[in-house]
Amino acid sequence: MKKPRGVLIAGNWKMNHGLSETNGFFDILSAQSKAALPKNAEGLLKSGALRALVIPTATSLQTARNRTEKNPFPLAIGAQNAHGEKSGAFTGEISGPMLQELNIRWVLIGHSERRQFFGETDSSVRKRCEGLLSQGFHVMLCVGETRAERERGETFKILERQLSGVFAEPEKGAATFLDGRLVLAYEPVWAIGTGLTATPEQAEEAHQMIRKWLWDHFGMDASGRTPILYGGSVTPQNIDSLLACANIDGGLVGGASLKPDSFLALLAAGAKALS
Ligand code: PGA
Repeated sequence: MKKPRGVLIAGNWKMNHGLSETNGFFDILSAQSKAALPKNAEGLLKSGALRALVIPTATSLQTARNRTEKNPFPLAIGAQNAHGEKSGAFTGEISGPMLQELNIRWVLIGHSERRQFFGETDSSVRKRCEGLLSQGFHVMLCVGETRAERERGETFKILERQLSGVFAEPEKGAATFLDGRLVLAYEPVWAIGTGLTATPEQAEEAHQMIRKWLWDHFGMDASGRTPILYGGSVTPQNIDSLLACANIDGGLVGGASLKPDSFLALLAAGAKALS
């Protein structure tokens, strides 16, 4: 296979799409998927070589999850954040068991908007990751530098700090990397929602650094198996050149995932990269 870890296309809806828009999205997705996806996509989606994930806002989770049951192709639903504790006095938070009741198995953790606007730190991100991984979730962990950090030549240093901050105790993380429940997303903060995509060379360089870090800390198998997605102004127009890079295993997509036709175009690009 061209891409040994397959391709994962994840749509992060952020604070968009309440119930009626969520229903509208799935209506169109079902109606258009056959025409929009290449012939080989169905087999790739069924085998799991191509994976589709939608990450709606909390109030749309249950509806989105229900809609996937009749979707013409397998589609997973994830939450945009969750607490590491199972219950307790944490106003405004959602726990793993609450998501399990909705049959939701994926959680996005450490998105730069959580870090920038809601005060999340390497340490809070670590606690969420540890709690949710121990409860059996698939966790997508986001890392990435700001524009100022890149301009100061600190990109690798920041990535290293964010990764070491989460995997402070390598022995705890190794098993999770090996069973494939951890996905990393490299999202340079300066590229998110700005229309400024990292060039494939810039993205691949950061992905290589992350993969090497995984190798150094968890060994060859864990490093080789862990998908690393790129995020930051990914569109159907620029995804092909990103997926052509050896260490880019998919996209974490905000704006371009909100419309079903654009989400389908991203999946079609994933199928193309695999054939
Ligand atoms: P964007 O968002 O695709 O709109 O830049 C990506 C993200 O924040 O995950």
